[in-house]
Amino acid sequence: MPRKFYITTAIDYPNGSPHMGHAYEKLISDCYARWYRFRGDQVHFLTGTDENGQKLVRAAEEAGEPTKDFVDLQVDKFRKLCADLGLSHSDFIRTTEARHKEAAQELWERLQKKSKIYFGQYEGQYCLSCEAFYTELQAADGKCPAHGSPLERVKEDGYFFKLSEYAEWIEAHIRDNENFVWPKAAHSEILNRIRSEKIRDLSVSRPNHSWGIPVPGDEKHVMYTWFDALINYWSAVRNSEEKWWPASVHVIGKDIVWFHAVIWPCLLKAADLELPEQVFVHGMVLGQDGRKMSKTLGNGVDPYQIIGQFPLDSFRYYLLRAIPSGGDGAFVIKDLVMRHNTELANDFGNLLSRVVKLALKKGGETWESRREDRSFDFPKLFEKLEGSMTRREHHRALESLWLQINQLNLYLNDQAPWKMEAGSEALKSCLSNALFGIFGTAVLAQAFLPEVSRKILQTLGQPEVLGPEVLAADSVSFRLQSPEPLFPKIEWKEES
Ligand code: ME8
Repeated sequence: MPRKFYITTAIDYPNGSPHMGHAYEKLISDCYARWYRFRGDQVHFLTGTDENGQKLVRAAEEAGEPTKDFVDLQVDKFRKLCADLGLSHSDFIRTTEARHKEAAQELWERLQKKSKIYFGQYEGQYCLSCEAFYTELQAADGKCPAHGSPLERVKEDGYFFKLSEYAEWIEAHIRDNENFVWPKAAHSEILNRIRSEKIRDLSVSRPNHSWGIPVPGDEKHVMYTWFDALINYWSAVRNSEEKWWPASVHVIGKDIVWFHAVIWPCLLKAADLELPEQVFVHGMVLGQDGRKMSKTLGNGVDPYQIIGQFPLDSFRYYLLRAIPSGGDGAFVIKDLVMRHNTELANDFGNLLSRVVKLALKKGGETWESRREDRSFDFPKLFEKLEGSMTRREHHRALESLWLQINQLNLYLNDQAPWKMEAGSEALKSCLSNALFGIFGTAVLAQAFLPEVSRKILQTLGQPEVLGPEVLAADSVSFRLQSPEPLFPKIEWKEES
């Protein structure tokens, strides 16, 4: 029986243009979606946009456009990013869609029926950029702890969710399920926060706003945007809930862990819905000076500075390998160029080109690799990668793959098949081994370098999409084509 794997990204605020953090999160999630498909699971991969917040209203006002028109245009940029990144998502949800509105209202009603929502008065501070409330303790100086900007004082009537009822339960749930918030550092951090902060009831509505999802039965209020945003994960699959719910992994950045690890599970628990298996927290992509990317500092890299200028797989490889999973990392174009030229072009691209050219020259198009003749243990390497991917350490999976590539290069240098006699058994065995080595690497690289793997498999005369079972096949036949350069070298000057 294939297992199911339902993976989501956070849904992006489309008030500005997509940035490197959005691209990073989508590419990581895509890599896991592809890996689970590769190992034979049924995968549902969701991404989308978070459109109901007041910051969208403000951004539209600043642009001088009606909110709906503004948001529609902005969302197109996010859809385009998905296409330009070659994302393999199954669905793109917008929180202004009817399917989402209905689901959010249904969930609200369920909570209300169970008396988990009540009417009261909220007094406190609000940050529009975070769309979040802050207590006096969190922001004693009246400034947003994340943005440093002055907070808005709000005093308003509204609805509350009884989050405080779940304080002990959520602490125990996180404590007893080490994998629920991953990696370990994020797990400890959230647990410490729960233990040091009092969990209060959550204000879940805003009054008198014309933009947002109306509270059922009280049109004077709309839902608080985080309340409806989290529900997107459920609303997208509500029509096939038995098949996909609960989510396997929510991939998010470390700035929004509280919402996903505390508020979301409590909402689900209160609504009698199953909890996601895991919240996987990635680090931040930083500017090349190691600081948070910001317009004022001018240290940001726009994803579109990379897309179109560099092969997509080089961009992907750099983000997946250079930033260790769970940690922060600076995006430095010079480093991307270096990795492209050395690890991708020299180590991997040249390997394919020299082996296939030599094989074509010395033995023609048709080659065969038999299990008993193989020097490399790819089923074992698959298990290793599987371990890394299960631990959500994609950078380690790539390291293991590159160790294999380096081993292959060493093997060739050692054996020196170019010196061997045409037609000899030694030559045949060496090249069929090397061809199988390239084949195995390309099969295992599909989730990480989809475009390049496809081209390699094509050069070897193999089907485009293959699962891990082919690595243990008794015999694999190749029908070689002339290889095209996989990673043409890139000249890069700092000022370019
Ligand atoms: O937070 N590096 O939307 P968002 C890596 N709408 N990841 C980054 C990043 C960076 N520099 N900057 C942001 C929201 N992110 C809400 C989510 S989910 C129900 C609602 C990540 O557009 C960020 O951590 O501000 C988040 O996971 C995602 O990008 C969207 O951020």
